[in-house]
Amino acid sequence: MPEAALALAPSVALTGDDRFWPVEINGLTYAAGGKVLVDGLNFRIVQGPVTAIMGPNGAGKSITLRLIAGLIAPSAGTMSYGGASMPGANQIAVVFQRPVLLRRSVAANLDHALKTYGVDRDQRRDRVKALLALGQLEDLARQPARVLSGGEQQRLALVRALAAEPCLLLLDEPTASLDPQATAAIEGLIARAKADGIKVMLITHDRGQAQRVADDVLFMHAGRIVEQTPTDRFFDRPQSPEAAAYNDGRLLLPSNASNSGS
Ligand SMILES: Nc1ncnc2c1ncn2[C@@H]1O[C@H](COP(=O)(O)OP(=O)(O)OP(=O)(O)O)[C@@H](O)[C@H]1O
Ligand SMILES: [Mg+2]
Repeated sequence: MPEAALALAPSVALTGDDRFWPVEINGLTYAAGGKVLVDGLNFRIVQGPVTAIMGPNGAGKSITLRLIAGLIAPSAGTMSYGGASMPGANQIAVVFQRPVLLRRSVAANLDHALKTYGVDRDQRRDRVKALLALGQLEDLARQPARVLSGGEQQRLALVRALAAEPCLLLLDEPTASLDPQATAAIEGLIARAKADGIKVMLITHDRGQAQRVADDVLFMHAGRIVEQTPTDRFFDRPQSPEAAAYNDGRLLLPSNASNSGS
């Protein structure tokens, strides 16, 4: 049996819901503190390719992710999900750089998540087992989640998000403080999610990571999307001077770039 098939028991087979697609984003704007921080984004999220969101610190990447996830409300603009104005329950999952885990064991964190997602008690045991295997967390199942290392916590957060069987998985710098081995484990889970039909969008500052896992790069600067380009081309021949400058380590956000009304 191939390794991938071992990792997920059939009961955890992840299936996308076609009715979720495409996600259309029109004029998405977010202002706070007298500044326009995300400025009229127009783009479409399609199922399949892994998208890296890149851009300098303060470009508006994390705000954009939170807007897409519905965690904050836009100041203007619309989003639609397969024509509906709201995503369905559990269709979008988010993992942040510092995951928030419950004060209970690793296995209990997964069991609680599955319960939240409406999985019956008699199915949860097998699914917790499969998720532990997927995250290579079997030996840590009874450990309190909060004593796990950063890399282990991130693996747990990621498989907990996958337990939702989301259509869209949003990751905000999921490996920012992890060593190469822990990073490789997370990238393996991203590849697995993609193979299972989950659309993954991840914010990363790591060029190597973008090249390893992403099919295209959505590049942001000063609250705007400057370009969306296949990954190889983005690093070889970016379309915009901003992306070229970023790739050469020359790009900073202009301090007044996102002032409203200027
Ligand atoms: N509530 C707020 N009020 C005012 N400014 C805010 C607020 N939230 C975020 N900002 C500013 O919005 C800008 C964009 O923030 P965001 O977190 O999206 O950046 P980012 O692209 O994710 O950057 P990084 O790479 O550093 O994570 C930053 O300059 C930040 O200081
Ligand atoms: Mg950020």
